[in-house]
Amino acid sequence: MLAPTLLAVASTIIASVGANPLKLKRQSITALSSEQIDFYTPYTRFAGAAFCESTTLTSWTCGANCEANSDFIPTAAGGDGDGVQFWYVGYSPSQSSVIVGHQGTNVSNFMAVATDLRVFQMNLDANFFPGISSSIEVHFGFSTQHAVTAESILSAVQTTIRDHNATLVTVVGHSLGCALALLDGVYLPLHIPDVTFRTIGYGCPRVGNQAFADYVDANVNFTRINNREDIIPIVPGRFLDYVHPSGEIHISEENDDAWLACPGQDNESDECIVGAVSNIFFGDEDDHAGPYNGIYLGACNADGAPVEEN
Ligand SMILES: *[C@@H]1O[C@H](CO)[C@@H](O)[C@H](O)[C@H]1NC(C)=O
Ligand SMILES: *[C@@H]1O[C@H](CO)[C@@H](O)[C@H](O)[C@H]1NC(C)=O
Ligand SMILES: *[C@@H]1O[C@H](CO)[C@@H](O)[C@H](O)[C@H]1NC(C)=O
Ligand SMILES: *[C@@H]1O[C@H](CO)[C@@H](O)[C@H](O)[C@H]1NC(C)=O
Repeated sequence: MLAPTLLAVASTIIASVGANPLKLKRQSITALSSEQIDFYTPYTRFAGAAFCESTTLTSWTCGANCEANSDFIPTAAGGDGDGVQFWYVGYSPSQSSVIVGHQGTNVSNFMAVATDLRVFQMNLDANFFPGISSSIEVHFGFSTQHAVTAESILSAVQTTIRDHNATLVTVVGHSLGCALALLDGVYLPLHIPDVTFRTIGYGCPRVGNQAFADYVDANVNFTRINNREDIIPIVPGRFLDYVHPSGEIHISEENDDAWLACPGQDNESDECIVGAVSNIFFGDEDDHAGPYNGIYLGACNADGAPVEEN
């Protein structure tokens, strides 16, 4: 008789341990409604389109990701998908927003860019980022990539705002493309007044130091959506002085893929990415591609398959 009693006591304890912390956490880590999740879908598609050849972006004929935002009016596109990531700029009437899209890269290529010697931090270039504090430092490799296309993108955004009387600019990207999108989220407002900016990124790496994260929290409307146990959002490591800004949404495998809004910078809760992936050997690199509400990223029209192509 002892064993079943103990079992009953044990399962009561397990049940309460299982329930109480969750109840407590829900006070600050909140699940998005399906309506709130669906809000991101057009932007996920915009982030996916950035993986397509720039010639198909200037004509907006890139396939499913272009068709999903069929009213989009492109202004300019560039990059070569090799040394220079593809990018595009245009206007979305249905979102009433200028859209800037940045291509990302696959996990193996990303790890090379993010973790080789270029992982060291540098100040933001004062020509591109006038007035920015010298305490702010960012990843050398990301910053160098950003500089290559910064002026073309700024000029295309200015043209698009003028042509469409736009008052909102949304910058999107996946992976390395999210790092570039976040740098644009800092850069563009320094040159364009009287317009609202926001950055929506997927599978974002860390981009800069504590001062950078604090600057983003104070000045940039940034949302970073992390899938399950993706390893990219936990690199470069915090031991290298990298810090994520706030704005995390974690698609939590342990919570039936609920989209959880995680407060703060690098929230260590198990329900957020830093807690869910204690180090890169415990993560799953296939989670980098998605799905993000059914959509895979990482290749031009990657729908339905966790592809690993650029
Ligand atoms: C932009 O605003 C100007 C001045 O109000 C107007 O003449 C023009 O038609 C508008 N353009 C668009 C695309 O709405
Ligand atoms: C920030 O952007 C999100 C969309 O990513 C939007 O829902 C929210 O209203 C914006 N917040 C502010 C303060 O503009
Ligand atoms: C992480 O989320 C918890 C809620 O579970 C909150 O209490 C805590 O302050 C957050 N951490 C950070 C670093 O903001
Ligand atoms: C990843 O991208 C790089 C650079 O475009 C490419 O050379 C490599 O073949 C890709 N790797 C995989 C596994 O697709």
